[in-house]
Amino acid sequence: MPQTLFKDESKLDINYIPAKLPHREPQRRLLSEFFGFILRCPERMSQRVILTGDVGTGKTALAQHFGAEITGEANKKGLKFRYVHVNCREFRGALQPILHRAITTFRPNFPARGYGAEEVLAMLMQVLDEEEATMILTLDEFDSLIEKEGSDAVYKLTRLQEMRQGKPQRLSFIFIMRDLKPTEVLDDSARSTLQRSVIRLERYGKIQLVDILSDRVKLAFELGAVPEDVVDLVAELAFSETGNARFGIELLWRAGKYADANDAGMIHPECVRQAMSSIVPSMRRSEIESLGLHERLFLLAVARYFKENEEVYASLSELEKAYAVICEEYEEQPNSHTQLWSYSQYLSKLGVLKTEVASAETRGRTTRVSLPSIPAEELERQLCGSLGYERRRR
Ligand SMILES: Nc1ncnc2c1ncn2[C@@H]1O[C@H](COP(=O)(O)OP(=O)(O)OP(=O)(O)O)[C@@H](O)[C@H]1O
Ligand SMILES: [Mg+2]
Repeated sequence: MPQTLFKDESKLDINYIPAKLPHREPQRRLLSEFFGFILRCPERMSQRVILTGDVGTGKTALAQHFGAEITGEANKKGLKFRYVHVNCREFRGALQPILHRAITTFRPNFPARGYGAEEVLAMLMQVLDEEEATMILTLDEFDSLIEKEGSDAVYKLTRLQEMRQGKPQRLSFIFIMRDLKPTEVLDDSARSTLQRSVIRLERYGKIQLVDILSDRVKLAFELGAVPEDVVDLVAELAFSETGNARFGIELLWRAGKYADANDAGMIHPECVRQAMSSIVPSMRRSEIESLGLHERLFLLAVARYFKENEEVYASLSELEKAYAVICEEYEEQPNSHTQLWSYSQYLSKLGVLKTEVASAETRGRTTRVSLPSIPAEELERQLCGSLGYERRRR
């Protein structure tokens, strides 16, 4: 068996719902508040909540986490309750098969065809009455349903209980969508009933992503396989990628795969860069050709440094030393520290490097540089090609 850093890869699977969701506690509590009646006085009321937030902000995870939790509590109280989570996009937004999925939780053999959406909805209500049960139906990626079915369907869903005046209330909804724009096409009454309770999930910040990723690292990797610095780097990249936790988790998984393939023994920063470049295209040749000679020499120094040192960050003075060596190699007079500083600023504007000011305890403020996404080896190869050509030309 080849060596692997993974202890349990499934913990990085996109469908895995972690036991805890760091930094989503306030939103989880809000959901509990909104749906608390299901445990206290089911049948007396129903609820509709919108969960909204950008890609990878934990909407699906939060809803499913909450669904499992409230189901557990309802069971403890002996209440007949079901949480049903349907991804509308899976059914291309068509209401009938979505409702069919909901009804099969009680009637597994309910025919998939032969009834229209409205009929299935009526039968779902009837089944809930027969079973004396309540249900939260979560319609994930709800925008695809709006797009496909329009106002009419949304109106039917949101006004369902009003049509059943005096009868027990049994069906509540969680609607999930990245933003509320899709609801603008709805007519006023459908929109206003829909938008009464909105829970917003803000993008994760870097520190929050570090917490989320650290939890996964513990579950998925062997002890010591992923250094803290590397978690930091992955969080930084996920943060730049709109605060998308899914991106970070996938990046971790890929970096682990690269580390295993190289028998690296742990995830080095270079594995993360390799993983990153397999997701996003790396620096294009034309970008390199557009750089000045000393910008390229400096960048080559950066590439060499990170190839030879398993570190995420380098100080500018460390890079200056590496640059001096490169200049000697290419028989060039090295430029000043200030020049290098402005090169690093320019290269970070291009997105090749990342620079930040760190306050070192003893030496005041220093600039530290990282190479977040381009594998150092690949960058070195490209630069050597470009610089070699130049040399031959002279
Ligand atoms: N607070 C968190 N703690 C732990 N894991 C999280 C957290 N937030 C998100 N995740 C994980 O990040 C990934 C993406 O989350 P999720 O699928 O819920 O995002 P989403 O908001 O539904 O995105 P999309 O809009 O693309 O559907 C999942 O693997 C999820 O488990
Ligand atoms: Mg989702």
